[in-house]
Amino acid sequence: MKKIAVLVGSIRQASINRILARVIEKLAGPEWSFTYVDIGGLPHYNDDLWSSPPEGVLALKQIVEDSDAVLFVTPEFNRSIPGIVKNAIDWGSRPWGRNSWAGKPASVIGTTPGAIGTAVAQSHLRSILPVLDMVVMGQPEVYFQFKPGLVGDDLSVSDYQTRSFLEKYLERFEDWIDRIGK
Ligand code: FNR
Repeated sequence: MKKIAVLVGSIRQASINRILARVIEKLAGPEWSFTYVDIGGLPHYNDDLWSSPPEGVLALKQIVEDSDAVLFVTPEFNRSIPGIVKNAIDWGSRPWGRNSWAGKPASVIGTTPGAIGTAVAQSHLRSILPVLDMVVMGQPEVYFQFKPGLVGDDLSVSDYQTRSFLEKYLERFEDWIDRIGK
């Protein structure tokens, strides 16, 4: 069983990044458990709030600490990551000395309607996570262009090449978790 903490960088209802996360969850099957962290409800980071930490912050830290790995599925906003993703990362990294991300295997993926597939946002995220002692998988990179019809209402992926690419991605992520998690 692989326990994955999932952070989706979009809170809009029809988010294609949330759909991508759920597609991967479905492909992963029953040997994996995906827990989606509610990052949209977190307040802006404020050191003062540690005197009485918001429940959402405690939940985030608990889910991450209980997980075998963290999966970031994020859109690209203006050539970087959305503010809610950075805000969640900052909350998880504190209070000082209690960094919940430390040592966690991680993977960064994302999707856009356009061809860029979140490449620039992912590059920014990959420069942040190692500072928090996360160990980010390098390959395969998933710059997923979300085309109409590619994902069915039942989260199935009709295109064989796309489906096998995502399946291979999951195999590599599993290996990565086994390797880094030791
Ligand atoms: C975008 N979008 C976008 N796309 C991209 O490829 N590069 C970018 O820099 C941006 N910038 C950007 C900024 C803002 C504020 C918004 C709202 C959107 C488009 C984005 O990829 C598209 O809206 C996705 O559908 C967002 O992902 P979700 O919400 O569907 O998961």
